[in-house]
This record gives sequence, C-alpha cells and structure tokens, in this order.
Amino acid sequence: MPDTSLDDLLTALAASPSNPALGMLVVNACLAEADADALGRALDLSGIALLGDATQRDAALRLLLEHRDDERVLQVAPPDSAAALFARARLLLAEGDRDEARGLYQQAVALNPALEDASLASELAGKVISFANARRQHAEGLRAGNAQTSLANDDTDADDVARLLRAPEPRIGFEDVGGLDQVKHQIRRRIITPFLKPSLFERFKRRSGGGILLYGPPGCGKTLLARATAGECRARFYNVTITDVLDMYIGESERKLHAIFETARRTAPAVVFFDEVEAIGGKRQFSREATSAKLVSQFLTELDGFAQNNHGVLILGATNVPWAVDAAFRRPGRFDRVLFVPPPDEAARRAILELLLRDRPLADGVDAGELARLTSGYSGADLRNLVETGIDEAIEDSIERGRESPLTMNHLRAALKDTRSTTLEWLTTARNHARYANQGGQYDEVLEFLKQHGAG
Ligand SMILES: Nc1ncnc2c1ncn2[C@@H]1O[C@H](COP(=O)(O)OP(=O)(O)OP(=O)(O)O)[C@@H](O)[C@H]1O
Ligand SMILES: [Mg+2]
Repeated sequence: MPDTSLDDLLTALAASPSNPALGMLVVNACLAEADADALGRALDLSGIALLGDATQRDAALRLLLEHRDDERVLQVAPPDSAAALFARARLLLAEGDRDEARGLYQQAVALNPALEDASLASELAGKVISFANARRQHAEGLRAGNAQTSLANDDTDADDVARLLRAPEPRIGFEDVGGLDQVKHQIRRRIITPFLKPSLFERFKRRSGGGILLYGPPGCGKTLLARATAGECRARFYNVTITDVLDMYIGESERKLHAIFETARRTAPAVVFFDEVEAIGGKRQFSREATSAKLVSQFLTELDGFAQNNHGVLILGATNVPWAVDAAFRRPGRFDRVLFVPPPDEAARRAILELLLRDRPLADGVDAGELARLTSGYSGADLRNLVETGIDEAIEDSIERGRESPLTMNHLRAALKDTRSTTLEWLTTARNHARYANQGGQYDEVLEFLKQHGAG
C-alpha cells in the first residue's frame, strides 16, 4: 500500500476516531508497512482502543519497540508486561538511571527472552547480557557479596557464546575436499543420508543420531571434512574449539556448553563440530582438576539429551589423539561412530597443492601433479609449509635480482629437501596403539591403511 493511502486512512480516522472498523484498517496498514510513525499518530487520535485483539496489540508493541517508541509502548502495554519493563529500562537508561534500568531489563528478559538485546545490555554497563543470567538473577536477587564475581563473569556472556560459535564461513562441499574418496563415501552413507532422510531410516527402524568422531594425523583435513559435511547436509555449521569453552570460573564452562547445544537446537538444521575433543573428553583419570570431570559429565549429558532429541542437529568431533579420549564418549548415542581420516592420497595432495598455488606468481613448468607424486605422507599442513618455503626462496631471488622472479619448480624441489612429512610420527604412535590396545577393533582402519602403504 503506497504512503498516500495510509495518509488518507489517517485523515479519515481523524474525522471519526472511534470507528472500530476504520481503526482496524489503519492498524493493519501500519503493521503491513511497518510504519511506526503512522501507528503512533493513529494511537494519538484514537487511544489504545484502536488496537483490537491481543494479537494485534502484540504486533503493534513489537513494531513500537523496534522503532524505540518507548513512550507509546508504555501507553499500550500492561505495566507489568515484559514490553513495558523493557521500554521503562530504556527510558531510565536515557535519563541516566543505569542501575534501575538494568534491573528492569533483567526482569523483562526473564519474562520474555525474545526481548534480549545485546547492545542494550552492554550499554547497561555490560553486566548482564544473557537470558540465562537474567533469569538466574531475577530468581535469586543480586546478593551483595556476589556482585563482584558476577561482574567478572557476566560481561562477556552473549559475546562469548557468539564467539565460540564462530560466524558461518562460506559454504563448502565435498567437491572442495581433494581425494579421500573412501572417507567421503563413509560419511555420505553413515551421516549425510540419515540426516537428509530421517523418515526412511525410521521406517527401516535404523537408529540414526549419535555423533561421529573423526580422527587422524594433524593437518589432514578433519576440520575441512566437517565443514564440507555441513555443506552437504545444507545445515548451519558451528565450529567449537573445546579449549575455548574451558573457563576458569567454576560452572562457566558447563553453562557455555549448554548454551552452545541450545543455540544449535534453535537454529536446526545444524552441525556442531567439536574440535580437539580430547581436551574435554580426555581420560578422566588424567584430568588434573576436579572441575573437568564435571565438564565431561555435562558434555555426556548433553550428548545423551541429543540421542533422544536430535532433530536436525548433528554432532561431529575431531581429535588427533583418539587413544586419549574417554571410552565413555564412544558409548551408543554418543560418538558411537569413529572414522579414520588418513593422510591425503595423491589426488588429495594434488588438489591441496593446486589450492595453495592459486593466485601466486608461478613460472612455467610448476606441476602440482608431479609435486603430489613427490610428497607421499605429507599432510595438508605439510604441503602448505612446503609451498611457503618455496615462496620464501622465490622472494629471496626476487630481492637479489631486483625484479619479481616467480616461483619455479626448482624452488619447490629445494623446499622439498628442507621439509618433511609429519604424519609418519603420528602413524607410528597410532600403530602401537592399534597393535596393543585395539579394543573392539577401533583402529582397524589405521592398520588397514598401514598395510596398504607398506609403512611398517
Ligand atoms: N583433502 C583435502 N583437500 C583439500 N584441502 C585439504 C585436504 N586436507 C587438508 N587440506 C588443507 O590442509 C589444511 C589443514 O587441514 P585441516 O585443518 O582440515 O586439518 P585437520 O585434520 O583438522 O588438522 P588438525 O588435526 O591439526 O586440526 C587446510 O588448510 C585444508 O584446507
Ligand atoms: Mg582441525
């Protein structure tokens, strides 16, 4: 509806302000155009009788709150409602009464979490941002003795969770992961299909759910595969590094963990990827602090909760040291499927090298295919190291000659002598675990890989 007709409606309303049918038309038009000014004018003309039922009132309140028309929110909303408390908090803050404002804001958010407003909360001295805190403090009241610790704890809440769940990166799929066909096939069969076709699995009474643990030598694409899996599932991807979750304050880590799972549930379909699982799921007898045992149980509780109610949320984990992960993590419904991500094969290495060499000044004859043949056992990270060492040589050459001298195959061959594969060390350790502690055949894939590649 163009503006003129809304103006016409308002003119008509000015002539007969207590015409309910006309009032209804005006409100609907204002809501449809999200025109808070016009709604305000209409309210001035007809008073709150203008708003018919509760639905219309709520919609009008949302519009007014969004446009920060707090005076009119107070006219419309019942005095004890969340909207009124919120509007009063904002007005009080504008008047400089921060403490009072903060209290009202907490109450408002405790009543209606949807009102949570991180920027307002940080204006309120950055003390209360999260809904969980608001509710807790609403219930307990702020005890004087506690004020100090909550100050220290609370100022990073919402930011923290947002940071822990990093901003979604551009979506990638399996075509962005070079080689690793075996692993991709496994992931497609065991993760992606059940995720995309849950009812089919239900019909066959095939249990889906439970998390997947990817393990393998460092730098070989676990994180990349997890991201690609999210892309293939067309799901949101949350990358959580466990060490980020760990917090020195007692109880904080558990709370962050819970918030992460909650966020994922709310934004399903989602894939939550826990990197460095061993940091949290490290064998409990090795953990130094009593609190980390509690964190493990919290993590397991959350995972178990997901086994029952995992609609649209997939849990992936990754570790370089699977033998350090508590066996409790592998029980059914938890990380009950474990996949080995081997060092990249030749095709994968070639794909990685092509990515790494893209957009760099290259001399003729630089051949990713040949380099891939020469770098058996190199991880993705090793290949990056190789290319960067080569680039350093090229830069040195350029400085010596006084002009740009592109990266040549000779630079790369020289770099090959200076770098080495780091996966061998990992495979040696893994072989020992596979030989002497292969409970339930959990490392069969590693043994198979070693057999195929003749690495004794
Ligand atoms: N198969 C692959 N295809 C394309 N790129 C790859 C592949 N494997 C690894 N890479 C590249 O190598 C780098 C390291 O990969 P990634 O971070 O996924 O390893 P990781 O297994 O998670 O290592 P870590 O155990 O150290 O966390 C990344 O830049 C990634 O793009
Ligand atoms: Mg990683």
